[in-house]
Amino acid sequence: MIVTIDGPAGAGKSSAARQLARRLGFRFLDTGGMYRAVALAGHRRGVDWSRPDELAAIAAELTLEVTDDAIRMDGQDVTQAVRTLEITTLTQFAADNEAVRRRLIDQQRALAAGNDVVTEGRDQATVVFPHAECKIFLPASEEERARRRFQDLLARGEEVDFQVVLDKQRRRDERDVERPFGGLAKAPDSIEVNTDGMTPEQVVDRLEEIVRARRG
Ligand code: DC
Repeated sequence: MIVTIDGPAGAGKSSAARQLARRLGFRFLDTGGMYRAVALAGHRRGVDWSRPDELAAIAAELTLEVTDDAIRMDGQDVTQAVRTLEITTLTQFAADNEAVRRRLIDQQRALAAGNDVVTEGRDQATVVFPHAECKIFLPASEEERARRRFQDLLARGEEVDFQVVLDKQRRRDERDVERPFGGLAKAPDSIEVNTDGMTPEQVVDRLEEIVRARRG
């Protein structure tokens, strides 16, 4: 069974999806981490960001290993390195790159093949797994999302300003929605769960309920 969870940045998708997968005994697929890893590779190799073909060539050679808890890039654990503010901003170049998207989509489908999976991203229900048995759309208000991201970055020891986090998130939201290929959109057959005011545990409870009802 494939469960897709799509939504904007900071809605609590990653932690909810990871815990949901654990409860169900499914694999967890963090597709944002894959786009982030491509951006990190471009950054480390000094890619010219105005040349989409250069980043696509890097992505084509990159070996990504994605497990439930970690992401490895050419054998190196980059789980933490992909989540800095700098890489978060650069990740748009990977997400906007159609050749990169096609490569990562193929990898996502290969990772899911024959498995029970909870997969999380922007385009999982609309593009990558249009025939998924259970599709969930997870939005939350922009203030609440920015607050969560801010706390998260503080906890990681980054020096951040709330207004900067909110502004960056707004720009990222716009780009996520406007991206012509793989942009954030709610699939017509998705179930929407707005996470405003919900604790992480309440979100997972609700998602588990939805999936179990769908499984019958
Ligand atoms: O979910 P996240 O913040 O880790 O995602 C990082 C970026 O990657 C985000 O700006 C949008 C992009 N992304 C995407 O385009 N498609 C996906 N399936 C997942 C993430």
